[in-house]
Amino acid sequence: MPIHRATAFAPASVGNVGVGFDVLGHAFAALGDRVRASRSRPPGVRIADIQGAAQPLPRETERNTAGMAVQSLWQQLRPDFGVELSIDKGIPRGSGLGGSAASAVAAVVAANELLEAPLAREALLPHAVAGESVASGSPHADNAAPSLLGGLVLVVGPRVCRIPVPAGIRCVLVHPRMALETRAARRILAPAVPLPAFVRQSANLAGVVAGCWAGDLGLIRTALEDVVIEPQRAPLIPGFAAVKAAALAAGAIGCSISGAGPAVFAWCEEGTTAEVLDAMRAAFGHAGLDSDGWTAAIDGDGARIEDRE
Ligand code: HSE
Repeated sequence: MPIHRATAFAPASVGNVGVGFDVLGHAFAALGDRVRASRSRPPGVRIADIQGAAQPLPRETERNTAGMAVQSLWQQLRPDFGVELSIDKGIPRGSGLGGSAASAVAAVVAANELLEAPLAREALLPHAVAGESVASGSPHADNAAPSLLGGLVLVVGPRVCRIPVPAGIRCVLVHPRMALETRAARRILAPAVPLPAFVRQSANLAGVVAGCWAGDLGLIRTALEDVVIEPQRAPLIPGFAAVKAAALAAGAIGCSISGAGPAVFAWCEEGTTAEVLDAMRAAFGHAGLDSDGWTAAIDGDGARIEDRE
């Protein structure tokens, strides 16, 4: 029996995790986007509806991350039917929470379910990345890979590698109520990295990954420091230095910008999350920004099918 409709949920994600610009990210399942894909007689991919977006999102397939992700899948597989997408945004636009990637991921996971021979999860990643790049301007998988596959994921060229997360640590995420466009936050980055910063950042990325594998929180604490991207983007986020200082003073293992910002994440030992969250929100408050905050697993689930008929 063919599947006529399928709905998928894809979680938010923390891109970069500070030290892994464009190559390291983790799922954050406290919030996410939902997409329903429905078979249609006309061929091609159409956006039928968008709900939950505070600002209007493009409805043209080519300008919409969900639409482009499914278009990419359809171009590869050429099924003899079309698909209509209904998008329900749970992630604020321009937040640094991986909303563009989550819509793309939820869309390909839902549309894949309609196929007679659905692709395996990992095979959907290039299509989700093709969709996400409509928003960011350049393909990178540090949001799409964890949103699709779950957990903490390192992207190595065409390969993805899930990294074990030490027991007892969680992520606190605070989103100040303002928006930053990813394209703009990428445009300001210097094209070259000074050699000393490259050396430190290499050690820090390796240190976070090694610390996760070894369950060595002390090593993660030392290494979770972005010396390349964070100093360039911090001026875009009012109060960032105070928010980071407050998180670390409240006991966070490390704190940096989530994706392109303005959201800020902190990795914390379980017993400290409430204190860290309050401290970060208070610091944004002192900078004049209201904020929303969440706590979730770093090793959380990736996208899931919620229903199909
Ligand atoms: N790695 C990306 C960036 C995430 O920091 O620009 C946002 O798409």
